[in-house]
Amino acid sequence: MRVGVLTGGGDCPGLNGVIRAVVRRAHGYGDGVVGFRDGWRGPLENDTVPLTLEAVRGILPRGGTILGSSRTNPFKRDDGIERIREALADHALDGLVAIGGEDTLGAAAKLHDAGVNVVGVPKTIDNDLGGTDMTFGFDTAVQVATEAIDRLHTTAESHKRILVLEVMGRHAGWIALWSGMAGGADVILVPERPFDIEQVCAQLERRFAHGRHFAIVVVSEGALPKGGDIAAMGAKTDEFGHVRLGGVGQRLEAEIEGRTGYETRTTVLGHIQRGGTPTAFDRVLATRLGVAAVEAAHEGKWGTMASLRSMQIEMVPLTEAVKELRVCSDEDLRVADALLV
Ligand code: F6P
Repeated sequence: MRVGVLTGGGDCPGLNGVIRAVVRRAHGYGDGVVGFRDGWRGPLENDTVPLTLEAVRGILPRGGTILGSSRTNPFKRDDGIERIREALADHALDGLVAIGGEDTLGAAAKLHDAGVNVVGVPKTIDNDLGGTDMTFGFDTAVQVATEAIDRLHTTAESHKRILVLEVMGRHAGWIALWSGMAGGADVILVPERPFDIEQVCAQLERRFAHGRHFAIVVVSEGALPKGGDIAAMGAKTDEFGHVRLGGVGQRLEAEIEGRTGYETRTTVLGHIQRGGTPTAFDRVLATRLGVAAVEAAHEGKWGTMASLRSMQIEMVPLTEAVKELRVCSDEDLRVADALLV
């Protein structure tokens, strides 16, 4: 058998671990692997790279993706499906392993419906894909954000400041929630729960009344004030229609400083939380998912996605993965609320 591999969407620590696992497991079967460059652009333009054992040596600890990535949407082209079919035929491929988030796997599910053989692997630091308990990359992002909070604490305390940390999280606040809990943040703001700036400041004032004259606020880039509009957050959109986010931290900074009188500063963590070497957890998860994807392809289980469920790797329908995003529940948020004093 022969399979193609591509990585789409934002890069993510662990992508190279999946690619390596795919190549090595396929080698065990005697199968051949071809890489497509830059997400769906690769099969659309028949841009490939041979994925031999030699090509994946030493990549496990490396962030990013050796295949490159893009937010190319194959359904934005009239002949998208046809071009992908031709690329697969050209390289005598039986099917594709698509590694990506909601957009890449959404396209994979549609391609499967159109008769193209695809198996998915869930990727996103945002941890918001359905059908799986966790995505690789999330653990690394939380680790980086937590370390940032620990470092911000020292300046916040020394200078009696409020420090706002803006982290990624478009629809789901998992990174803010987990790093905020791990780093002991005083306020955590997530997209799932629009915030009231007066309540945010009241929470900070309560802390000051306890004699703690500094604070850490963690905010997801997708968090909005009550009645806020996501479309107003940024002007540029990608091929999947997503607005380029960023700036909520700065807006909070001005509001909080104006209302509390405490000097307030913002740090935007940005792509730092998406780059660099994956944690051991993400390397292992990526490896397990990559192995499962090749085994599923080998068994002809097309239209499925490798997923983590109760610590076990299972194959689930691709449609289930893209049906609904996995966002923080009230119960998830309640635990963080219970820590507030
Ligand atoms: O992949 C998800 C994500 O990390 C989102 O949290 C964020 O909005 C987006 O990627 C940013 O992507 P880009 O670097 O392409 O602007």
